[in-house]
Parts: sequence; C-alpha cells; structure tokens
Amino acid sequence: MKQLLSLLCLSLPLLLLSGLQAEARSQHHEHLEKLFVFGDSYVDTGNTRIGQPGSWKNPYGITFPGKPAGRFSDGRVLTDYIAKFLGLKSPVPYKFRKFIPQNLKYGMNFAYGGTGVFDTSSKNPNMTIQIDFFKQLIKENVYAASDLSRSVALVSVAGNDYNFYLARNGSLQGFPSFIASVVNQTATNLLRIQSLGVKKIVVGGLQPLGCLPGSTASSSFQKCNSTFNDLVVLHNNLLNQAVTKLNQQTKNQSPFIILDLYESFISVLNQPSTNNIKDELKPCCVGISSEYSCGSVDENNVKKYKVCDDPKSSFFWDLLHPTQAGWQAVYNKLQTTNALQQIRY
Ligand SMILES: *[C@@H]1O[C@H](CO)[C@@H](O)[C@H](O)[C@H]1NC(C)=O
Ligand SMILES: *[C@@H]1O[C@H](CO)[C@@H](O)[C@H](O)[C@H]1NC(C)=O
Ligand SMILES: *[C@@H]1O[C@H](CO)[C@@H](O)[C@H](O)[C@H]1NC(C)=O
Ligand SMILES: *[C@@H]1O[C@H](CO)[C@@H](O)[C@H](O)[C@H]1NC(C)=O
Repeated sequence: MKQLLSLLCLSLPLLLLSGLQAEARSQHHEHLEKLFVFGDSYVDTGNTRIGQPGSWKNPYGITFPGKPAGRFSDGRVLTDYIAKFLGLKSPVPYKFRKFIPQNLKYGMNFAYGGTGVFDTSSKNPNMTIQIDFFKQLIKENVYAASDLSRSVALVSVAGNDYNFYLARNGSLQGFPSFIASVVNQTATNLLRIQSLGVKKIVVGGLQPLGCLPGSTASSSFQKCNSTFNDLVVLHNNLLNQAVTKLNQQTKNQSPFIILDLYESFISVLNQPSTNNIKDELKPCCVGISSEYSCGSVDENNVKKYKVCDDPKSSFFWDLLHPTQAGWQAVYNKLQTTNALQQIRY
C-alpha cells in the first residue's frame, strides 16, 4: 500500500513535467547549453515539498499547467522565461532528477521556496546547501567539465533573508549591516558556483520588496513602502559593487551579470496598462481574512481564499509572488536590457 502510494506521488509530478517537455521540444538545439538554478520561490519549479505552503496546492498552477505543479504562481515563473530565452526546456527540479534522467541535459533547478543565503524559517536547504547538491552531482559525474563550460547559472535570493530578519524583530538601525552580510554571503556563493566551472552566472537584483502585497496590505494595496524599498536599493547598490569587483578579478571576461528585477518590476508597476494589468498592487489570490492565505483550506477542506476573475490582468498572484502575466511583463522588460543578451553564448 505504502509503495503504491509513493508510486502515485511520483507519477503525478512526472506527468506534469512531461507536459513541460512537450512544450519546449520545438526549441531543441544541437549543442545544448545548460541552465542551473539556485535560490528561492521566484525560481523554484517544484523542489519545495508537497504539503508546505503554496506551490503544490490549489489554486497554484491554474493558468499553467492547469493544476498545482510546484511553482509559486498561477503559471510560469522567472526560470521558465530564462530557459525559453536560452532555447532550453525548463530545467528539471533537483527533487525529480532520478525520475526524468533524459532531462538532465538541460541543467537542473536547485531552488527551494522560502530560502535565503542564510537560514530562514523555512526548513528547506539554504543556498550554500543547494550549491553542495550541485557539487555532489559534479563529483558523481552527472555533469562533466564540458557540460559546465557552456552553462548558465540563475540565482534569485535574499528576499527571504530580509523578511525573516524583520519577522524576528530585527531593528531598522541594524538593517544596513545585515544587508552588507547578505551581499557578502551572496558574493561568496556566486564565486563558489563559478569555481565549480559555470561560465556565466546571472543574479537577480532584488525586487522592490516594499511593493509586494505583503508590504502594501496596510495601505489596502495602494502604495509601496518606500522605507523598505530604500533598503532594497541599498542591497542592490552593494550587490552591483560586489559583482563589479568580482568581474574585475576575472580576466578577459565578465562572468557575473545582474538582472535588474528592481527596475523591471517598478517599470511594469508604473505603466500597468501597457501590459493590460489592472489594480497593479493588488494580489489575485488572497485569504478571506488575515488568518488565511492563498491556498488555505479549513479542517473540512473548505476554501478560505478567493481568486480574481482574470489572473492575466493581475501583476501579483499572492502576497509575495507575481502571476505568470506579471513574470511575462517583467521578462518583456528585461529583454530590452543588455543583461539578458549577455547571457547568450
Ligand atoms: C546553511 O544551512 C546549513 C544547514 O542548516 C547551516 O549549517 C549553514 O550554516 C547555513 N549556511 C549559512 C551561510 O547560513
Ligand atoms: C516580535 O515582537 C512581537 C511584538 O512585540 C512579538 O509578539 C513576537 O513574538 C516577536 N517575535 C520574535 C521572533 O521575537
Ligand atoms: C566578505 O567579507 C569578508 C570580511 O570583510 C571579506 O574578507 C571577504 O572578501 C568578503 N567576501 C566577498 C566574496 O566579498
Ligand atoms: C515599511 O517597511 C519598514 C521596513 O520593513 C517597516 O519597518 C515599516 O513598518 C513599514 N511601514 C509601513 C507603513 O508598513
């Protein structure tokens, strides 16, 4: 019985993933690059455990693939768009590596929702441990040096470090020095990914945390928290400095690239109608009261959340994450920048 149950649990994600494969098959390349992904829920495509909040629960995934599939959105997330840009299938989540070995050639996604560079309240592996998983696979020859020489790493991290800091009653006065330590640890992680042989490492500049619905709920989703955004700007400035320094230390190439999520989020939020987005700060899926969140059910499995009529016209899906339409708009914006072009071989 137990075996049957675990078989069932395994085959569900498998079915979902084979749907993803079919979609990307048309973009097959002769000499494939690989995409390796590290960080948090902005890039996780299935690693977070079933049963933890969101991602594997209704109504997550209602737009794509039509049911919960481990993404913290109604549909595709940043990883899927970056993979598409590179002409790759979205890389297989680390958790499923044994079940779809034919997909290892597109790279692997090590990201887990809720995680940071340091430990957060999430029990999922922090970024250091995620890189350890990658290192172990290289040691086991799952990936060879020749694979890594044409590969890209995508990193999204730090938002949870800051939310955790604030949830722990961290002081505003202590925030700048905490930011410095987060950026220092991020830079250490980026160097470590490079030392494993990855040639291009793309790191997301931090999104405007003060504009996420979790921060704007107190103003009925009317205005971004500029205090919080100023701290994010400090983070991004320090990250820019750190990355510039890392690039200067690497002769004849600039392996580290920043994707400016801050500017692309702000730009979309400032001109929502360009992307047919309405009520740009209001999330599509919310708990019916503050004790519930998107995806909450009570002990009788009765829904305790509401979903908007048209997720395509919302930028935000839940209190923290963009909708697929939101990510598509951000991706459109990123395509107008230099950074995305630099990640192509
Ligand atoms: C990452 O997680 C491991 C295991 O919980 C912990 O020992 C380590 O200190 C963490 N790394 C950082 C940089 O916080
Ligand atoms: C933070 O402060 C609030 C209010 O003072 C308190 O209820 C809560 O337990 C504190 N949280 C932590 C993690 O210390
Ligand atoms: C992190 O900070 C330490 C101490 O200031 C410094 O020695 C180290 O070079 C920094 N690491 C990076 C990657 O910037
Ligand atoms: C704005 O964010 C800061 C830092 O997170 C927080 O201390 C402050 O209470 C927030 N202000 C409002 C109005 O929510």
